[in-house]
Amino acid sequence: MAKILKKEQWSENVFMMQVHAPDIAKNRKPGNFIILRINDKGERIPLTIADANTEDGSIMLVTQKIGLSTGKLMDLNVGEDILDVIGPLGQPTHIEKHDGLVVCIAGGVGTAPMHPIVEAHHKMGNKVIVILGARDKSLIIMEEMMKKISDEIIVCTDNGSYGEKGLVTDMLTKVYDRGEKISEVIAIGPAIMMKFVCLLSKKYELKTTVSLNPIMIDGTGMCGCCRVLVNGETKFACVDGPEFDGHAIDFDLLLKRQAMYKEQEHQCKVGLH
Ligand SMILES: Cc1cc2nc3c(=O)[nH]c(=O)nc-3n(C[C@H](O)[C@H](O)[C@H](O)COP(=O)(O)OP(=O)(O)OC[C@H]3O[C@@H](n4cnc5c(N)ncnc54)[C@H](O)[C@@H]3O)c2cc1C
Ligand code: FES
Repeated sequence: MAKILKKEQWSENVFMMQVHAPDIAKNRKPGNFIILRINDKGERIPLTIADANTEDGSIMLVTQKIGLSTGKLMDLNVGEDILDVIGPLGQPTHIEKHDGLVVCIAGGVGTAPMHPIVEAHHKMGNKVIVILGARDKSLIIMEEMMKKISDEIIVCTDNGSYGEKGLVTDMLTKVYDRGEKISEVIAIGPAIMMKFVCLLSKKYELKTTVSLNPIMIDGTGMCGCCRVLVNGETKFACVDGPEFDGHAIDFDLLLKRQAMYKEQEHQCKVGLH
């Protein structure tokens, strides 16, 4: 059981929870995630550890309500329990000292997994530029938190309702055109966004890391559900990732596998309301 210590609604469909999970809070590293089950009938859903506090033993989860389980999670309140939370899972992010810029590109709720990565690069002494992108203003989250741990932040929205009007790829081009050396690009967000960032960064010959979000079940490398193709080789995102070299990923296969249960997910969502 993991008690909900704090809950905040950050936008219509995005909410933050601090959940009591002291062992996970103590052992988590940037890039790690958890898998939770709300109750004994609940499915297992993976969520990234966006932050942790070892003093009160809490981990921070930032979730976008997208379907049945994230909707049920959003309905829980402070003082209520989540049946089980397992983690930390996945390989931690590789953080090293760079002589050039680290450009961190986060799309929508992808900002949550990006937060500990930006923090780690900042602590390492790397110069970090964060690009936060979303469809509209309501989906831009954690801007103030990111400002404190980065050298520069560029916010953009597709419709221009906040920050610069344009896509994250347009902002990457602007940063690239300044001519400053870029040592690494990190992109986390919808698979389609990561695909286009990688196509561009390949053209610019920039090392690029992505954090993949295939459907996961057990999170231990046993079920094979999260398989992804990396350089033509099958890898399990839960144990080999979730971070990989973005230029080696078969994004079309990832997009296809993410949509594999669309019909059933739609039926669950309809049944929910
Ligand atoms: C490593 C990892 C970290 C993640 N971190 C976050 C996070 O910090 N915040 C956040 O909001 N979301 C995160 N996600 C995505 C989140 O797990 C899904 O949005 C959630 O499982 C959807 O469940 P649902 O029942 O509400 O929606 P559904 O209607 O069941 O599904 C909606 C879509 O979510 C995806 N999805 C569904 N079930 C799963 C599953 N078991 N595993 C992965 N994806 C699934 C599919 O693409 C699906 O089409 C992460 C996913 C992974 C793999
Ligand atoms: S989630 Fe089952 S192998 Fe990765």
